[in-house]
Amino acid sequence: MTRNSGKEGRLSALLKELPYDSGTVFWYDSVDSTMDAAFSLEEVEDRSIIVADTQTTGRGRKGRRWYSNEGSLACSVVLTRFDIRVPYSMLASYGVYRAFLKHGGTVALKWINDVLWKNGKKISGVIAEERRGRTVIGIGVNLNNRELSREVEGVATSFLKETGRYLDPQLFLRDMAGELFCILDSTERDGIEAVMGEWEKDSGIRGRYVRVVDGSREYAGRAVGIDRKTGALLLETPAGKIQVFEGSMHYR
Ligand code: BTN
Repeated sequence: MTRNSGKEGRLSALLKELPYDSGTVFWYDSVDSTMDAAFSLEEVEDRSIIVADTQTTGRGRKGRRWYSNEGSLACSVVLTRFDIRVPYSMLASYGVYRAFLKHGGTVALKWINDVLWKNGKKISGVIAEERRGRTVIGIGVNLNNRELSREVEGVATSFLKETGRYLDPQLFLRDMAGELFCILDSTERDGIEAVMGEWEKDSGIRGRYVRVVDGSREYAGRAVGIDRKTGALLLETPAGKIQVFEGSMHYR
């Protein structure tokens, strides 16, 4: 777990270009997971960013592994607060989506917190965890991977594979942090409703027929939108209108 002062210095300088405050940059060569690295920091400023060149045991949602091949971006953003009402991972994946648009990516939002390439393959995943009032948002982006891990080949892709273009990870991090901080500020200032409304519009989810699997439960129906307060998926099913809060969503 060695810190790379050169990369930390460059990213810190890039973050200063943003009209938002950010915390400290920690850039490690290798960690087990940037989530654990973030939680193990004794003192940490709000909006600090922890990046790792490699992760040995990256975590995904629902106890799954997250495989970061060479070229992928693994980072965590620390917030020194937690609000149970805020769907942090959904907000962060919206930030990733908007950062990709800035770099010419043809990406799509998938409820709850995935970003897909236009061909339906996953390009980014986000988790959020809370411990003792600290929120850590973990963001994995397949940026410059020449290859994807065997486990996710076929269902995942990278920016480099799709465009043939190398994307400077530091510039992408700056833009992603900028979008995330903008979204968080707007949520804290004006409430979450406006951001959820934009998410719904940008995702194009209204009217699509979907299936959501949450453990042993399964829901199917027509998506009629996103709850403006919680981010829950609003589904019209044969049994009536329901709200779904968790699960893996698939388009039908
Ligand atoms: C998902 O399952 O889609 C979420 C994946 C989140 C992966 C990122 S990579 C950086 C951070 N550190 C981890 O161990 N996981 C998250």
